[in-house]
Amino acid sequence: MNATMSLEKTKHYPVMLNQVLSIISPQHGGTFIDCTFGGGGYSQAILKFPETKVFAIDRDKLTQKHANILVKRFPKRFNFFQEKFSNLSKVVQQHVNPRAVIFDLGLSSIQLSDKERGFSFESKNFLNMEMGINEYSAYDVINTLDKEHLATIIKVLGEEKDGRLIANKIDKYRRKKPIKTSQDLASIINDAKKNYNKYKKNPATKTFQAIRIFVNKELTELILGLIEAAKLLSNGGVLIVVSFHSLEDKIVKYFFRTYSEKSKNPSRYFPKVDKEDIRLFDCPIKKSINPSEKEILINRPSRSAKLRYGIRNNKKYFFPNELTEKFKNYLEIEGMGSHL
Ligand SMILES: C[S@@+](CC[C@H](N)C(=O)[O-])C[C@H]1O[C@@H](n2cnc3c(N)ncnc32)[C@H](O)[C@@H]1O
Repeated sequence: MNATMSLEKTKHYPVMLNQVLSIISPQHGGTFIDCTFGGGGYSQAILKFPETKVFAIDRDKLTQKHANILVKRFPKRFNFFQEKFSNLSKVVQQHVNPRAVIFDLGLSSIQLSDKERGFSFESKNFLNMEMGINEYSAYDVINTLDKEHLATIIKVLGEEKDGRLIANKIDKYRRKKPIKTSQDLASIINDAKKNYNKYKKNPATKTFQAIRIFVNKELTELILGLIEAAKLLSNGGVLIVVSFHSLEDKIVKYFFRTYSEKSKNPSRYFPKVDKEDIRLFDCPIKKSINPSEKEILINRPSRSAKLRYGIRNNKKYFFPNELTEKFKNYLEIEGMGSHL
């Protein structure tokens, strides 16, 4: 990111930027959709090429100030919308015909380091964890969601084996008084985890991941975002996704595998349709692309990144039922907060 773009003390380094640019080739011009604008690293790098246009979105209203810099510099070539990528088609019209749709999932370093947002363990601020355009905060979830649901969220979305134990401990504390800050929550989790000193990572890592994913419905967003992108892209358009944890990557990998392999029935639960070809994408590389050691040294948060991409072919779009069926469990779990 250019130094002029950085309005915060913390910078966000765009992960695998060179790999992204070499896949989308902005030097040939065209329209690009940056679904996760963040600090604007990808958008800015694309706009350096004169024949390009960028539509960028981010659900976080604080990213607007970074976007304003690019709006000023590239008034005819850059548009920004504060929106969730599940609503991509609300802000980007079908006829735009993008050369690429890009997702760089999760949180930016700017969000993570902002103590007021409550994403970090040390935050003494309100237990918020909202990325933007949310229905409820982590405070609502931790203090009001029933114990059983809380345990399921921690177990499934955090892949935390002690989910029940932690949910019980949270319940015990919140009966006495509301759990108000991220620091309070982290110390309750540490209390629940036995021998927490033996962990390499903070023992609250998985539970924090689970609550953050739930508050922002991140897996539902990803599933719907992929569907929106498949609808919007036409022949030759590229879909790129950079993911940061195993649940995200599981979804992205399944999506590309299922909608790129020829005549393969994605699930034994679906009737075999003779000669039906469900390819929407061609995937030149089956494995994920990972950051180099050099990049990890410079930007440690990039270490868990995985990049996958596919090139849209000329098949007519169809709704990818297999995807929503396969990840029904995640969609149901993230829907559990609808009454909060
Ligand atoms: C890892 S950062 C992106 C960083 C960006 N590529 C850069 O170079 O600065 C992810 C961004 O995506 C945004 N985001 C996450 N989920 C979103 C969603 N469902 N819809 C829109 N934006 C989302 C977050 O608010 C965050 O700003």
